[in-house]
Amino acid sequence: MVARKAFYVTTPIYYVNDDPHIGHAYTTLACDVLARFKRLDGYDVHFLTGTDEHGQKVEKAAKMAGVDPQSFTDRVSGNFRALARAMNFSNDDFIRTTEPRHVRAAQAIWQKLVERGEIYLGSYSGWYAVRDEAFYAESELTKREDGSLVAPSGAPVEWVEEPSYFFRLSAWQERLLEFYESHPDFIAPPSRRNEVVSFVRGGLLDLSVSRTSFDWGIEVPGDPDHVMYVWLDALTNYISAVGYPDTGSETYRKFWPADLHMVGKDILRFHAVYWPAFLMAAGLEPPRRVFAHGWWTNEGQKISKSLGNVIIPYDLIERYGLDQVRYFLLREVPFGNDGDFSHRSMVTRINGELANDYGNLCQRVLSMIARNCDGAVPTPATLTTEDVELLSAAEALLERVRPALDAQAFHEALETIWSVVRAANVYVDRQAPWTLRKSDTERMATVLYVLAETIRRLAIFTQPFMPDASALILDQLAVPAEARDFSRIGEAGALTAGTPLPKPSGVFPRYVESEDAAGSRG
Ligand code: MSP
Repeated sequence: MVARKAFYVTTPIYYVNDDPHIGHAYTTLACDVLARFKRLDGYDVHFLTGTDEHGQKVEKAAKMAGVDPQSFTDRVSGNFRALARAMNFSNDDFIRTTEPRHVRAAQAIWQKLVERGEIYLGSYSGWYAVRDEAFYAESELTKREDGSLVAPSGAPVEWVEEPSYFFRLSAWQERLLEFYESHPDFIAPPSRRNEVVSFVRGGLLDLSVSRTSFDWGIEVPGDPDHVMYVWLDALTNYISAVGYPDTGSETYRKFWPADLHMVGKDILRFHAVYWPAFLMAAGLEPPRRVFAHGWWTNEGQKISKSLGNVIIPYDLIERYGLDQVRYFLLREVPFGNDGDFSHRSMVTRINGELANDYGNLCQRVLSMIARNCDGAVPTPATLTTEDVELLSAAEALLERVRPALDAQAFHEALETIWSVVRAANVYVDRQAPWTLRKSDTERMATVLYVLAETIRRLAIFTQPFMPDASALILDQLAVPAEARDFSRIGEAGALTAGTPLPKPSGVFPRYVESEDAAGSRG
């Protein structure tokens, strides 16, 4: 048997100081679509997400909530698992940094770094932003009107002076630059890559990797006064989850190095600079790729708690429908760019691309088959050039969508699939099966067969993006569960004439503004 291809994709692990919002849903959604696509494409997939539970920020949030950090993280981590279910995420694992498997891995990588002379004891004095869990040089800070200093992210900083272990990051500058040079696809999109390269060229300082002024963290092996810096702890999750330090284990060998770490642009530096440096310093292989996506604004405004405009994924699902939201988030913005969420563009896409283009196509074809072909897959006669063209365009989607998704160009993948949805609608109008019903029933059956078969192919491709709606379409075509992967796109999975079909039902309803909402919107 041929060894199956492996694909390991990760989301950032989310801080448990906050309830899940659109930013969390977005990063994980992108990974979910890739994981689902790769599974359908014959890969053994490992899709990891989880929660980042240590550090000062979480400790503070627990204090504010009046509970101990462990009970606090248990509760908030549960909210992230609930979000994954609500968004239909297909993660294979969910890691929490408070789990023993992770603590063991983080301490093991620490020890490895110590053994290799990459960590030394010193003392840190400088600025720290708890909100970012990051150290900043004074030159990076700006002064507010009230005299307080803030980090480039806008986070307030505080002065820290304490004994600390340091990682010899400065020694890795040249090797990192060589690594970026020899792995041009390591950082995407390219504009982000340039940012990282110039940051590293600018010189790297040794990095403080332990703290002594609080204790909610993983103990430094052999020095219980210190807890590990939360980013060293957190980044390690990607290897703890595949079994590190058991580097000989089957899971580790199969899935490390990770194929893709998906992150937001704000946390790229940690993933593209510190993480490969830690790994190389520990004698481990760095990941293959880090993709930094952009940020959403809400109706043109920066999203922030203080503005009260945080977008809660549950509200979107309730209002627009889950698959509609999944589609919109990946279709609206070229992945990698910042994007604006607006009710208007959501409704335009739901009613245009989903209800009119895709939904209507399915509805028209399936109800014509129900009415005119005894509710069974029609029997085709000889195919014309136009029939073959449409079918081939649908089959050839694989060769076009695969590279788009390998480049994380979700918007492009969807646009490509929709070019065939539109071609199918043009075909229906030109072939006019409703007229053939009176003049040439054999040709009508052929046209409806070609359309049903095109819809089958389209629905197989829309599965990763819209799993529920696509399943409903495939159910209506009586496609068996085991015949829904990419190996069955062409003839191998073709519909069999005469197969009875269930009664059709609509898939993408139009969004109709309720009186109240319309009124309040003016
Ligand atoms: N705990 C760290 C990651 C550690 S990974 C080893 C962290 N957690 S987070 O909870 O703050 O992560 C938030 C994620 O959501 C980031 O990828 C961030 O870019 C993303 N977003 C937060 N707000 C966002 C928007 N408004 N829009 C899109 N994504 C945004 O960072």
